[in-house]
Amino acid sequence: MGGKLGTIWARAGHDVVFSYARSEEKLKQLARDARGKARAGTPREAAHDADAVLLAVHWSRVDDVLKQAGDLSGKVIITCSLPMNADDSGLVIAHTSSGAEALAKRVPKARLVSAFGTVPSEVLFGVFAARRKVRRPSLVYCGDDARSKKIAAELIRDVGFDPVDAGPLRIARYTEPFTLLIAQLAYEGDEGPELAYRFERFGK
Ligand SMILES: NC(=O)c1ccc[n+]([C@@H]2O[C@H](COP(=O)([O-])OP(=O)(O)OC[C@H]3O[C@@H](n4cnc5c(N)ncnc54)[C@H](OP(=O)(O)O)[C@@H]3O)[C@@H](O)[C@H]2O)c1
Repeated sequence: MGGKLGTIWARAGHDVVFSYARSEEKLKQLARDARGKARAGTPREAAHDADAVLLAVHWSRVDDVLKQAGDLSGKVIITCSLPMNADDSGLVIAHTSSGAEALAKRVPKARLVSAFGTVPSEVLFGVFAARRKVRRPSLVYCGDDARSKKIAAELIRDVGFDPVDAGPLRIARYTEPFTLLIAQLAYEGDEGPELAYRFERFGK
């Protein structure tokens, strides 16, 4: 998720720092391939001057990457990380809370937005390539801070989605399990993982 979204945002004109992998060379290669204003750095360097930080690691790595990132007070954190168990077969937090809310408790001074977690990474380049088409796929996002949500909505639009504001961060209780449906359709269906969704309204 981080490699693909970072590449897209660099191509859309943003300054991007790729961070957190076991191989620094992989991050450097991502930055070279992204072209634009992209570079590799540590999580601390990535977070330092950033207008927004994408948190895109396995749930089991969250504590480690947050420790490496240092003080995130006041930072806009966009999380696509789902609270999955070790073998990715189920959510370890659901119904009465969500991964996004657990994260917000973990970094109470950061401004959390939950976004991008509802689509498979395999669809992202296709959505970006189709961004000039009239009918964009939807992408739900939620959070408690209006300014951070505005930044998230811009980044969602830059990828080629139509941002759908689903409300406060606690709505991640619904969006995170929704992703398991999307994953079922993407990875267990016959038509491949390049899947996005679109909400249609029929009132007025
Ligand atoms: N993939 C999807 O389609 C998708 C969709 C929706 C939500 N999500 C959520 O998004 C999050 C990220 O998923 P992803 O598929 O992008 O994960 P990923 O491919 O495993 O990427 C996560 C990053 O963490 C790094 N990493 C893993 N273990 C590490 C370690 N021990 N030390 C340092 N770096 C380490 C990986 O680098 P290396 O492995 O190269 O070291 C990689 O750069 C997850 O929480 C997932 O539930 C994923």
